Amino acid sequence: PVLVVDFGAQYAQLIARRVRETHIYSELVPHSMPVSEMLAKDPKAIILSGGPASVFEDGAPGIDPAIFDAGVPMLGICYGFQVMAHELGGKVDKAALGEYGKTPTSIDQVTGLLAGSPAEQDTWMSHGVAVQSAPAGFEVLAHTEGAPVAAMQDTDRKLYGIQWHPEVRHTPLGQRLIETFLHECAGLPDDWDASGIIADQVARIRAKVGDAQVICGLSGGVDSAVAAALVHKAIGQQLTCVFVDHGLLRKGEADQVKHDFVAATGIKLIAVDASQDFLDALKGVSEPERKRKIIGEKFIRTFEKAQRHVIEEAGRTGTEVKFLVQGTLYPDVVESGGGDGAANIKSHHNVGGLPDDIKFELIEPLRSLFKDEVRAIGTELGLPDEIVWRQPFPGPGLGIRIVGEISKERLDTLREADAIAREELSKAGLDREIWQCPVVLLADVHSVGVQGDERTYGSPIVLRPVSSEDAMTADWTRLPYEVLAAISTRITNECRQINRVVLDCTSKPPATIEWE
Ligand code: XMP
Repeated sequence: PVLVVDFGAQYAQLIARRVRETHIYSELVPHSMPVSEMLAKDPKAIILSGGPASVFEDGAPGIDPAIFDAGVPMLGICYGFQVMAHELGGKVDKAALGEYGKTPTSIDQVTGLLAGSPAEQDTWMSHGVAVQSAPAGFEVLAHTEGAPVAAMQDTDRKLYGIQWHPEVRHTPLGQRLIETFLHECAGLPDDWDASGIIADQVARIRAKVGDAQVICGLSGGVDSAVAAALVHKAIGQQLTCVFVDHGLLRKGEADQVKHDFVAATGIKLIAVDASQDFLDALKGVSEPERKRKIIGEKFIRTFEKAQRHVIEEAGRTGTEVKFLVQGTLYPDVVESGGGDGAANIKSHHNVGGLPDDIKFELIEPLRSLFKDEVRAIGTELGLPDEIVWRQPFPGPGLGIRIVGEISKERLDTLREADAIAREELSKAGLDREIWQCPVVLLADVHSVGVQGDERTYGSPIVLRPVSSEDAMTADWTRLPYEVLAAISTRITNECRQINRVVLDCTSKPPATIEWE
C-alpha cells in the first residue's frame, strides 16, 4: 500500500481518498506507529500528512527519522513537509507572513515532482511556520511570499515535500501533483479498481467461510446492500439476508429491496413486514429520543426473531450459521481507533445488535473502503442506481421526520411529499450534488390556507436540502427557485392536509440535519 501517516490533520483521510482516486491502494496509519511496523506493511510510498501542531511545540508529533533512510519514496505535505525538513537538518522557523487559503505560488524548477507545472499557480495553504532553508541534498522547487521553500526534492533519496495542500479541491493542480508523485516519482502502477477489489474480496470470503452458512441484515441502505451482494457473489446460496420492514421507509424502498435487489442479485431473502407492530409500539409517542429508543429496540427484537428462524432452518439441514455480514466502512474503522482487529468497530446501527447467546464471526468486506468506492463496487456488481445512489437515511426512518406523534395517515402524507421532492430533485439532475434532503412533516403545526375557494387548516412540509462531505458539518443547498417552485406546487396539489411548503435555510451547526 501507500501509507498516509496521520499527524492529526482533518486532511489525512482526504489524502488517502485522493490516492485511491488515482487507482492505487492507500492506508492510514497514526504517526505514533513504530517505523518498523510501518515498514512491515511493505509500503510502496509514504505520504506525511499535515497537522495542527508546529514542529517547535513541546510534544509536537514527530516521527522516527529512520523512516527517511528506508529507501521508500516519500512526500511530506504541510506539517509533514516541515517535519521532514526539520529532521534532515533544514531550517524551519516562524513565517514572516502566515498564508491561509489561496496563495500565489512561483515554481522555480519545473522538474521532478513539479514536472510540467505552469511557472505561476495558485495553491491552497494554511501555515504560520515556514521552511526557511532546505536540508543538504535537496533542491528548492518553489517559493511564495511567506514560504522561501514552498517545495523541495531530493530525487536520489526520493524525498519530496510541499508546503501547500494538494488534497483539497481549492488547489487546482493538486490531484495532478499527487499523481505525479505516485506514478513518476515513485513509479507505481494503477492497480486498484472496483473489479480488482471484488475479485480479491470474493477469494477472501470463500477462504474464510468454507461451507458454513452466512446471515446478513439489510437496512435498505447502500452499505448493507453492497456488502450482501459482494458476499453473495462469493458464496451464493450459503448467504441468507434478513430485511425487516418497519413501515418507516420511504415510498418504494421496501419494494426496491424485496424485488429489484433480489432480481439484480438472486439473493435468498427473508422479508418481515413488522409495520403494524411498530405503529402500535409508537402510539402516543412524540418525544424524539423515545421514538428512537422504541424503534431501535423493536428493530433488534424483530431482527433477532427472524435470525433465530434462519438458524433453526439451517440446523435442520445440518449446516451451521457461523458468520454475520456487516457493512462497516473505512471511516468507521479509522474513527473507532483503526487497527486490523475486529474489536473496536462501531456497531452498525441500522441492522441492530446481536442476541447475547448467539456468537457470530463477522465478515466485513467493505472495511477498507470509502463510500465512493462502495458505490463503484455496487454498480460493478449490477445493483440498480436507486440503491447505489441512495441518500443517507436514518435508521429510525420517517419516524423522526414527523415532528409529533406518528400515525399511518401522517406517514402516508409524508411518504408522498418525500417522493415528490425526490422525483423533482432527480429530474433536475441534483441527486449527486446534494448530500441528502430530509422532508419533514410538522404534524402538530396548523396554518390557514386557501385551496379551491375554501379555507383550509393544514400542516406545513419542510424541505431540508443539505450539502456535506461527511454529515459532521453541512450547509443548506441553494436549490434553484424553479425546482423549489415545482416541488412546492406539486406537494400542495397532491398531498391532502398540506397547504404550505417551507425551506430550511440553516447550516449545521447550529442546526442538525434532521429535525428530531
Ligand atoms: P444530524 O441530524 O445529527 O444527522 O445532523 C447526521 C446524519 O446522521 C443521520 N441520522 C441518523 N442515522 N440513526 C441513524 O442511523 C439515527 O438515529 C440518526 N439520526 C440522524 C442523518 O440522516 C444524517 O445523515
